[in-house]
Amino acid sequence: MANVNDFDFFLLTPSDFGEVTEILAKEYFTREPLTLGTQPKNIQPAEGRIGADIRKCLESGASMGLRHRPTGELVGVSACLFESRAETLTPTQPANELTLFYRMYDEVMKGVEVFEEKEVNKVLSIYMLGVHKDFGGRGFGRKLVELCVAKGVERGCQKSVVCVTNKFSYKIFAKLGYEVRHCFDLTSLGPDWGVDTSLMNGNTIVSVMAMRLS
Ligand SMILES: CC(C)(COP(=O)(O)OP(=O)(O)OC[C@H]1O[C@@H](n2cnc3c(N)ncnc32)[C@H](O)[C@@H]1OP(=O)(O)O)[C@@H](O)C(=O)NCCC(=O)NCCS
Repeated sequence: MANVNDFDFFLLTPSDFGEVTEILAKEYFTREPLTLGTQPKNIQPAEGRIGADIRKCLESGASMGLRHRPTGELVGVSACLFESRAETLTPTQPANELTLFYRMYDEVMKGVEVFEEKEVNKVLSIYMLGVHKDFGGRGFGRKLVELCVAKGVERGCQKSVVCVTNKFSYKIFAKLGYEVRHCFDLTSLGPDWGVDTSLMNGNTIVSVMAMRLS
């Protein structure tokens, strides 16, 4: 049983790109339900749209990591970025092997107008949350999100949004005060969407959740 003192939370920076893409490949894309359902082959998290998005998250100054001190391994990541009314993030890189994944993600996000409230100009968008399976269920996922939210508040965000695909992360966001703004039942999709919901361990509802920060 690992001791809680064996772990350090820290702010991720662009120099962590290699380690972050490595843990996401091993611990996020192997278990995240939408990835399981869309079955991408040979995921390259350092390339294309996903690589560009991860770089933006590491540049944001709001993404947090969790390091296991005894092994020195990065065992948790909450990757997030800021969006502003003046500058919304349009993908500039191809989705490649994650085309079906992003097709679904973009479709779900379309259901929410992030800047609908006129006083909301800056939003903390939580993009990917992953914790090594050996260290799951100990509150690390929740703590990573809490630290990102604190950064969002510090940096003047009025709101935070997240696309939730997993029952465990749903619990984290709901308990922190995020509310469902839009949800999509993937079992209602036709076969042309390329999502095999039987592979998603019962996580077939994708929700966009939001919380006001000020
Ligand atoms: C989702 C994820 C980040 C959660 O990380 P975590 O460190 O285990 O989260 P926490 O310890 O803060 O637990 C959050 C909740 O999930 C529950 N939970 C976590 N793992 C669990 C498990 N294996 N079995 C049952 N419940 C579990 C916790 O008990 C907690 O619920 P509670 O508040 O009612 O006690 C992690 O499971 C993961 O990396 N999954 C794969 C990637 C993914 O799907 N990311 C989310 C996409 S939106």
